[in-house]
Amino acid sequence: MASLDIVHYGDPILRKKCDSIKKFDELDIIIDHMFDSMYEQEGIGLAANQVGLDMNLFIIDITHTEEEEDTYIFINSEILGFSGQETKYQEGCLSLPGMALEVIRPENVILKYQTIDQKWHQNEFSGLMSRAIQHEIDHLNGVFIVDRISESEKIKYKNQLRLLEDNTKKKIGISANQNKFIL
Ligand code: CO
Repeated sequence: MASLDIVHYGDPILRKKCDSIKKFDELDIIIDHMFDSMYEQEGIGLAANQVGLDMNLFIIDITHTEEEEDTYIFINSEILGFSGQETKYQEGCLSLPGMALEVIRPENVILKYQTIDQKWHQNEFSGLMSRAIQHEIDHLNGVFIVDRISESEKIKYKNQLRLLEDNTKKKIGISANQNKFIL
């Protein structure tokens, strides 16, 4: 199975609110490719726009922890509410290589989503699962972890972000229209 290239900070698709999915056929192939990309980069979560796809879709695998035994696929997700205390936790991001930031988020999240069988679900998640869900939902809304830290803290990463953005823009210039998803 082939994997898809991860797109980085500076690519416009990562600033877009992703479209909802209406066609479910062939989605399983896309999802397989996404899992391959995520495992290749040793991530625990991946949103579709991180591989250049404008779709409300993300995957999570935290089976390395005690918390979850299964991998998760979330389609057409929407956060319905938060609860619990705000907690600070260090997050990395496959689209921001080399960066790890302390991000404050509510402890629990209530999520409405579809599974691959098109059934709707509504569940509350906590712990690392909640944190990962909130991170991926941010991606689908065009939000990065750097948008979740204070302006004064953000200044520290200004040069690193600019460099990353420049590299991404160069890469897009070279491979314009070549980054399409091919089955
Ligand atoms: Co990320």
